[in-house]
Amino acid sequence: RRVGIIFGGKSAEHEVSLQSAKNIVDAIDPEKYNVTLLGIDKDGKWHINDQSHYLLNEENPKLIQLNKSNEHVAIVPGETNQQLINASGEVSLEQLDVIFPIVHGTLGEDGSLQGMLRLANIPYVGTNVLGSALCMDKDIAKRLLKDAGINVAKSITVKRREKEALNFQNIKEKIGLPFFIKPANQGSSVGVSKVNTEQEFKQGMEDAFTYDHKVLLEENIDGRELECSVLGNDDPVASLPGEILPQGDFYSYETKYIDESGALLEAPANLADDEIKNIKETAVHAFKALECEGMARVDFFMQKDGTLVLNEINTLPGFTKISMYPKLWEISGIPYSELIDRLIELAID
Ligand code: DAL
Ligand code: MG
Repeated sequence: RRVGIIFGGKSAEHEVSLQSAKNIVDAIDPEKYNVTLLGIDKDGKWHINDQSHYLLNEENPKLIQLNKSNEHVAIVPGETNQQLINASGEVSLEQLDVIFPIVHGTLGEDGSLQGMLRLANIPYVGTNVLGSALCMDKDIAKRLLKDAGINVAKSITVKRREKEALNFQNIKEKIGLPFFIKPANQGSSVGVSKVNTEQEFKQGMEDAFTYDHKVLLEENIDGRELECSVLGNDDPVASLPGEILPQGDFYSYETKYIDESGALLEAPANLADDEIKNIKETAVHAFKALECEGMARVDFFMQKDGTLVLNEINTLPGFTKISMYPKLWEISGIPYSELIDRLIELAID
């Protein structure tokens, strides 16, 4: 089969996507697949095959730095990397049998890229336009999860124009301290802060609004941080859960990708059988309720009394070396390259 892997992108998770793509490229079976690399740089330009390799270059020192969406730091394409796929005519998307889009965050995970592929009539791995869009938006996703009877953290949604009217005391009374500030549409904890004081609140709001026009103020949930991978279309199945043991203040971008001693992952998580069953069932329930397809990683908190609070659903979860999605399948009996086969089959299904 001819598989196109789309990676990179303009989002703040550009570097994470490069790492994910690199692992997928390493794991995909070259006997079975003829791979076309489609790299999107931070300016949104598309590069094909050899011209996109530089994006995956191991030596690239800027690989994992945070790309603030409003400040395009890193990778500048060299003179030879000039081609836009459509403008060059070298590859038309129709020549591909299936696309594996592994662009995290804005424009890649939010239904935009999925819409383009749908218009081009090419099967793609992962969730459709609607499911992608609503899982990406933490505000909308939470409303639908509540509707499905799934617990979520208490939160207040703030649009940019409502920002000035906020009162720290009122927020404190409603959701307690500490609380989290999160851009509504971001991944990898980009733009997220934990707030204890009014000063941190002001700073955190400034920061979050550089990433999005909509921000969530969310209560802190005390509990174990557990993740579960889901795979399938109409009849999805869940992996064994894994646990995040963040060593910092919370599981931030830095503890995820930069600080090597920043978080420990335990896979499988040390849980009782009924807890595992509950997590798996809730993950599948949420996957269906939010119209997911192919794959998603469902992230939870488990409180002391065993209550599950769903944190979020990631429709294009990380595939980096430290990422939970493939790791949880590995320990549940599906090795990395077989996982890629399954995802591609599900896309074509
Ligand atoms: N948003 C990152 C890639 C994740 O969920 O793994
Ligand atoms: Mg996420």
